[in-house]
Amino acid sequence: MGWVNRDIVSIRDFSKEELLEALDKAADVEKNRPSYAELLRGKVMASLFFEPSTRTRLSFEAAMHRLGGSVIGFAEPSMTSIAKGETFEDTMRIIDGYCDVIVMRHPEIGSAKKAADITKNPVINAGDGAHEHPTQTFGDLFTIKKNLGRLDNLTVGFLGDLKYGRTVHSLSFALSHFKPTFYFISHKSLKMPQEDLKELDKKKTEYYEEEDLLKVSKKLDVLYVTRIQKERFLNPEEYHHVKGIYQLDPSFLKHTKPGLKILHPLPRVDEINPQLDKAKQSIYFEQAHNGIPVRMALLAMILGGH
Ligand code: CP
Repeated sequence: MGWVNRDIVSIRDFSKEELLEALDKAADVEKNRPSYAELLRGKVMASLFFEPSTRTRLSFEAAMHRLGGSVIGFAEPSMTSIAKGETFEDTMRIIDGYCDVIVMRHPEIGSAKKAADITKNPVINAGDGAHEHPTQTFGDLFTIKKNLGRLDNLTVGFLGDLKYGRTVHSLSFALSHFKPTFYFISHKSLKMPQEDLKELDKKKTEYYEEEDLLKVSKKLDVLYVTRIQKERFLNPEEYHHVKGIYQLDPSFLKHTKPGLKILHPLPRVDEINPQLDKAKQSIYFEQAHNGIPVRMALLAMILGGH
């Protein structure tokens, strides 16, 4: 399948070769950024955020500007005609006529697919509830490859909220193309969803579930830390029961192997102490900044600029 006019709804729609192709394009964007500056002149990106965001929204918007394109949209749906009762479907149909590509975050699982079925222009899923966050995954893969020199045969720990953490659901599937070993480290109430584990079983991916980070931390090449997703809990008491359960500080590094890299999609709350930020293992700010070349590459490929 080609890239032009393609939706990015799920990371599951991309083969290993396509993932690598996008990472190569992002590396080229990073190296030759001036040559991309006019690529999407005249194109318009709609940036529709029905949920809060800092990194995803602003890096997509910056990426479009850096490609010479322009941006319309909203970060606060209460300022749109949705507040007057307009349906999601009508909203998408209207905006589809105003732009060339739609980047959308929405709290409902499956909303990006629903939008893609309505619109003629491509839809990029910037997060649909607890389900998926595919463009975060492109950035995560790019960051891992850049720092570790490879994606193959890595031992990766996923820590924190594996039940509601959409970045984990997308990244674990993408990495499963590369013969990894996974440690899913969480409180028992926040384990990986069964459907994700079944997919890994089908792909014969080696994985283990664990509650105690220090039991496995010395094995890890990558530790992918996540925030407990407070906003997804139906019962606030359940959130308070697990809040603050994993908190990393510099003393954690005594329990790791040389070369470990710590990633986090951010925002963080209390799971990584800022004292850890300066450690060479901590690459989560670089990871956030890699959102620019990666999202520039995806927009360029989808809008047919290259
Ligand atoms: N990583 C991420 O999705 O961050 P935002 O919620 O700030 O977009």
